[in-house]
Amino acid sequence: MEIARTVEEARRIVRGWKKDGLDIGLVPTMGYLHEGHGSLIAAARKENARVAVSIFVNPTQFGPNEDLARYPRDFERDRALCENMGADLIFHPEPEEMYQGAQAFVDIGLLADTLDGAARPGHFRGVCTVVSKLFNIVQPDRAYFGEKDAQQLAIIKKMAFDLNFGVQVIGCPIVRESDGLAKSSRNTYLNAAERAAAPVLYRAIQHGKSIIKKGMPAQMLISEMEKVLAAEPLAKTEYVAVVDAMTMQPVDTIEGAVLVPLAVRVGSTRLIDNFSFAPQG
Ligand code: PAJ
Repeated sequence: MEIARTVEEARRIVRGWKKDGLDIGLVPTMGYLHEGHGSLIAAARKENARVAVSIFVNPTQFGPNEDLARYPRDFERDRALCENMGADLIFHPEPEEMYQGAQAFVDIGLLADTLDGAARPGHFRGVCTVVSKLFNIVQPDRAYFGEKDAQQLAIIKKMAFDLNFGVQVIGCPIVRESDGLAKSSRNTYLNAAERAAAPVLYRAIQHGKSIIKKGMPAQMLISEMEKVLAAEPLAKTEYVAVVDAMTMQPVDTIEGAVLVPLAVRVGSTRLIDNFSFAPQG
């Protein structure tokens, strides 16, 4: 496994692979890797001759009052995990390498204005910009993203299509702890009481899944899920929504394929989760 810290090093390695006709899978991450990331690396390993993992805590996707400075980092542990999983390259640049003097950014419209985009202005502009850069540097055939960040996945699929990246964007299922909490690097922020409270998101999802059906008013589902969340004193609901799975716009009645995302603060930590539903027939 090779480690590239500059764009030029990464390009040199990728040029070698391309010359040999090898197809490339890319797994973009911000590091502090867990089994959620691992599942993306495993999927990439299965489907590509070469696998690149990027580890970069991307400053442009953090708001001024967010957790950029304290975002967890452990490159040595990440390196060992990537090596064990059979990755061929880690791209691990410094912020200056990626952004020094940068003026160009990638904006995405409507899809980024709702849900996490509304709660975190500029967030998806930063995500789209860094993912575009990674696509240009690594030139993957396929890129792997988690369904845990469902709005991010929808946005990147749309961006790859609209900007003709020629990269196949592949979504992978949410990996959870045994009590249902979705794995996340940010779970390390939770203290013991908050960690014990955090599976309430999953309980709300389970309840939502058990009652959702075609023709149901979205508001009925939302209220039911909010009730589950409200029963946990340490949890403060930011939103529960029912949106069209493609456009991310709210729906009134559940007719076609929908995404049901939620964002909840447990203590000061913002957790997100979701489930999808597609009515039969
Ligand atoms: P990060 O939060 O490190 O996540 C990297 C990838 O892992 C994302 O595609 C995310 O959806 C996926 N992932 C995280 N937790 C998961 C879980 N429990 N199950 C399955 N997949 C999971 O998302 C980012 O980084 C950044 O925004 C990035 C795309 C790298 C751009 O900076």
